Amino acid sequence: MRTYCIIGDPIEHSLSPAMHNAAFRILNLDCVYIAMRVRSNELEGSIRSLRASNIAGFNVTIPHKVAIIKYMDRLDNSSAIVNAINTVDVKDDKLIGYNTDLYGFVKPIKDKGISLKDKYILLFGAGGAARAVIVALVNEEIGSLIMANRNIEHAKQLIEILRSNLRIGFDVKFVELDYARRYSKECYMIINSTPLGMRYERLPITSDDISSNSVVYDLVYRPMNTPLIEDAINASAQIIYGYEMLLEQGAKAFEIWFGREAPRDIMKMALLGGFG
Ligand SMILES: NC(=O)c1ccc[n+]([C@@H]2O[C@H](COP(=O)([O-])OP(=O)(O)OC[C@H]3O[C@@H](n4cnc5c(N)ncnc54)[C@H](OP(=O)(O)O)[C@@H]3O)[C@@H](O)[C@H]2O)c1
Repeated sequence: MRTYCIIGDPIEHSLSPAMHNAAFRILNLDCVYIAMRVRSNELEGSIRSLRASNIAGFNVTIPHKVAIIKYMDRLDNSSAIVNAINTVDVKDDKLIGYNTDLYGFVKPIKDKGISLKDKYILLFGAGGAARAVIVALVNEEIGSLIMANRNIEHAKQLIEILRSNLRIGFDVKFVELDYARRYSKECYMIINSTPLGMRYERLPITSDDISSNSVVYDLVYRPMNTPLIEDAINASAQIIYGYEMLLEQGAKAFEIWFGREAPRDIMKMALLGGFG
């Protein structure tokens, strides 16, 4: 039996085991996928243990997506550009890092026939997920970007880091979270890459701040209907759920590990079942 896992902290609410184990079952693969809590100060030792345990591959989530890069033997193009990893393949004892968040973010946009070319985009957040989002926005040739973050310096630093690998050919404006509502109605797409909406705290915009012509993309996938998604529905905007990205990044990871098409329908059912 081959073992796969996801490492992160916190990890107990991860839906990746349900999604991947459902894929293994339907395809009769003799594999299992488990979640492992790995704290920041345990990362190096955990990577050593994973190598020694003959792990077949693994996913990486908060807070390790950037810190894990130095333990990789090789990076694929997407992870080298984003400078963050969420999927590791093990080939001949070598760890190869990939970033499937980039693909996972873009796929639902493309599937819905949405074009971001020359569009004005509002992005909340400047953490690990925002890295992949910004690389995707560069690839999609957007018109301009407004970044709203709790700590504006983090947003500026992120853009500087990405500029070392990437030609960012559009204007970027930085605002504090509370000021974003001044701009949100003019934006074609509003993206949430903060955890706001997962629990009690929420983004400082309401349905009055969302245009019916906008697309609202919430990376938070639990709950499925976040306050932002509900506000977007009330504003008659188009929505993209966080689980759509989760599904696609997971399907891409599966395809890297197994070299065959992922059973998306089954993986989606497992995810939606995980929401109750
Ligand atoms: N759907 C998917 O497939 C998918 C994939 C990846 C991530 N995600 C979700 O995206 C979210 C962000 O993930 P990440 O990896 O980017 O996390 P991260 O690296 O920890 O970054 C978190 C970002 O959110 C901001 N933030 C955190 N707590 C906040 C608070 N209480 N109030 C205001 N801002 C706050 C941080 O602002 P500061 O810079 O000021 O600290 C930072 O910009 C998570 O909810 C994660 O589950 C979803």
